[in-house]
Amino acid sequence: MRPRPESQKEAQAWLDQRGRKFGLFIDNQWTEAGETFASTNPADGKELAQLTQATAEDVDRAVQAARRAQPAWAALGGPARARIMYAIARLMQKHARLFAVLETLDNGKTIRETRDADLPLVARHFYHHAGWAQLLDEEFPGHRAVGVVGQIVPWNFPLLMLAWKIAPALAAGNTIVFKPAEFTPLTALLFAEICVQAGVPAGVVNIVTGDGRTGEAIVKHEGIDKLAFTGSTEVGRLIREATAGSGKKLSLELGGKSPYIVFEDADIDAAVEGLVDSIWFNQGQVCCAGSRLLVQESVEERFLKKLKARMDNLRLGSPLDKSMDIGALVDPIQRQRIHGLVEAARAEGCEVYQPSACEIPAEGSWFPPTLITGASTSAAVAQAEIFGPVLVAMSFRTPAEAVQLANNTVYGLAACVWSENISLALDVAPQIKAGVVWINTANQFDAACGFGGYKESGYGREGGREGMFEYLVPVSEDARPALPAVAKSTAAKPAAASNDSFAIDRTAKLYIGGKQARPDGAYSRAIHGADGTFLGEIGEGNRKDIRNAVEAAHKATGWTRATAHNRAQVLYYIAENLAARGQEFADRIAAQTGSKTAEKEVQASIERLFYWAAWADKYDGAAHQPPMHGITVALNEAIGVIGIVCPNENPLLGFISLVAPAIAVGNRVVVVPSEAHPLTATDLYQVFDTSDLPGGVVNIVTGSADELARTLASHSDIDAVWRHDGSAAGCAEVEKLSAGSLKRTWTGGGKGRDWFSTQQAAGRTVLAHATQVKNIWIPYGI
Ligand code: NAI
Repeated sequence: MRPRPESQKEAQAWLDQRGRKFGLFIDNQWTEAGETFASTNPADGKELAQLTQATAEDVDRAVQAARRAQPAWAALGGPARARIMYAIARLMQKHARLFAVLETLDNGKTIRETRDADLPLVARHFYHHAGWAQLLDEEFPGHRAVGVVGQIVPWNFPLLMLAWKIAPALAAGNTIVFKPAEFTPLTALLFAEICVQAGVPAGVVNIVTGDGRTGEAIVKHEGIDKLAFTGSTEVGRLIREATAGSGKKLSLELGGKSPYIVFEDADIDAAVEGLVDSIWFNQGQVCCAGSRLLVQESVEERFLKKLKARMDNLRLGSPLDKSMDIGALVDPIQRQRIHGLVEAARAEGCEVYQPSACEIPAEGSWFPPTLITGASTSAAVAQAEIFGPVLVAMSFRTPAEAVQLANNTVYGLAACVWSENISLALDVAPQIKAGVVWINTANQFDAACGFGGYKESGYGREGGREGMFEYLVPVSEDARPALPAVAKSTAAKPAAASNDSFAIDRTAKLYIGGKQARPDGAYSRAIHGADGTFLGEIGEGNRKDIRNAVEAAHKATGWTRATAHNRAQVLYYIAENLAARGQEFADRIAAQTGSKTAEKEVQASIERLFYWAAWADKYDGAAHQPPMHGITVALNEAIGVIGIVCPNENPLLGFISLVAPAIAVGNRVVVVPSEAHPLTATDLYQVFDTSDLPGGVVNIVTGSADELARTLASHSDIDAVWRHDGSAAGCAEVEKLSAGSLKRTWTGGGKGRDWFSTQQAAGRTVLAHATQVKNIWIPYGI
């Protein structure tokens, strides 16, 4: 076929006009270039430009510019910001060809993709979010901008990731310090010029170039209020650790190993085409690439034959050639990485198929489309994110096995399900632990639909309403008291050392799997009332007890599958049973805390149970209408098993305010009640037993908040940890340890919270902490 190259004249001229050397974009000014590094064209290895490696001082200047600009940018108001964002969108469209060519030169991806996918989505993102700016006051009442946000993106979709980050941040009234990846900084610098043309005020968007060291300086800067990161899970973990205890808001969009499930009744030709798009789009350098083919055994042979035939037709070569399917990899480093993984699979006995006719150009960094079969489910190629044009195929027999294989990964970003049987497809989709499920389609994105991961693929969403919340803070958070009402008390002592002869009889046990359980360590601690009276002993829970509780919680899957109506009924029942024993609870609270308003706390707790019961069947998702013939259904799903460390004060209301919303939406919980006043929680066992709450939904382990929180945060089978006992150091530790398996966290830090206030302790913000959004794309009529 005759080459059909897109002209690179304008892009090269743009680089020439700027001397092929760039400083940083801070406060709408370009700095002099400092120490520089090269950005090269991956298709031929030629240098395109020299970029400045921003230092910590440069980052500091950018943060200060952003800080100065933020109040006025927020005060400008949504409609005025929307005008500027529309201008950005229009200018991006006007210069779309220049952006597309520059992106292809810098990244190596084909012009077909930059022109037809990246740029239209970029413009759509700015238009859509200009709309959110316009509607901000109406649609997000009681919220304010977070402040100054630091944003770090990878090299696979340089401009698209910029749009996903910058558009919602601007709409919400934040100012920005943005860092493109060191391999692909050029379109971000062209975007800086667009910002000036569109009338973005000085300091609102600052762009600093550099490698991981610059990223680290952004992450560690105290003047940053929120970090948004897209990139490798490894760096995501480092960022979680580095920001632990800082109070910075954090969203992470990390790696994936997404399953591509083909059932025997799928439209096989369409599924093959979808797979080409899923794994060979952008050379497979896509976080949500369908890199694991799971095909039903009965059609495996036919499917793979068609797939290989299709692979033989893929054209690899100059990315500027409009007829190419596959371009260059971003850098030789990536080529080596991918090569290493493929060769290791070959050495392990896997079969590796690469089209024989695929010629690899002499210069640049390339990898042919590759299909690996015969890998075991635990092989590195089946588990690691290869981030290249490499597909690993496996077969399954039953839908249950498909789901099991699909979920057999630490990641949970996306999945594809192919079946002409809508009942099967819609049955499978909710069972897959992933933030996005495409039914009979692949790699669909839209600004109106949230995108983001489950499990180690990260947390937070980009796009849609949920994406906007990432850049907003409820103003009620600003009203929280500076300090928690009670510090924690007494240390543990061995039961035998107690001088109360009735101590053993009065030791409250733990509550695990719906049964009272003795603590594993056989230690207990004495609990004294506010006036020093001995009130009883509680079990001193340890690591083993938490393990047992987590196991019980995992078994209670029926709760998550139960209807929301059923969950609401149980919560109503708990409220009624608590009300029947209200005085007893009030007396116990008063005895422990010395509170004169214990009855008020009990009433508020009953009220809150009714409140969350009411919510249980009303936290609906959404039916989005992206520009596709079909719908995208956003489901608010339970997170799974949540570890909860309750506040010390308000031993009943604090407990109920955290546990009730978590279970209302289908989570199971392992709860560490108030360390200072735990007897209220142990009194709840009987209430739960008489309220039809299935065993394992609420598990209670009493003891040291610090020790138990540590165990919860480092446990690999817990999906989220909430800590609200006012311990700044303890919350920081939870955040740090959560990095291990990238759990979600919700921590109160060292501040207090008014548990009686519905603004501070109830509402949709709490529900958002208790759920994760899954977007299921369902095209129809095609
Ligand atoms: P990376 O995660 O190192 O880089 C992403 C961004 O983070 C870049 O802007 C980089 O400069 C910055 N960065 C690096 N270290 C940092 C630090 N300590 N603190 C703050 N920022 C830091 O990804 P890399 O090295 O470019 O690619 C390596 C592998 O990561 C790929 O082969 C792929 O498997 C995976 N990856 C996954 C992506 C995804 O979207 N899921 C995107 C990019 C890479």
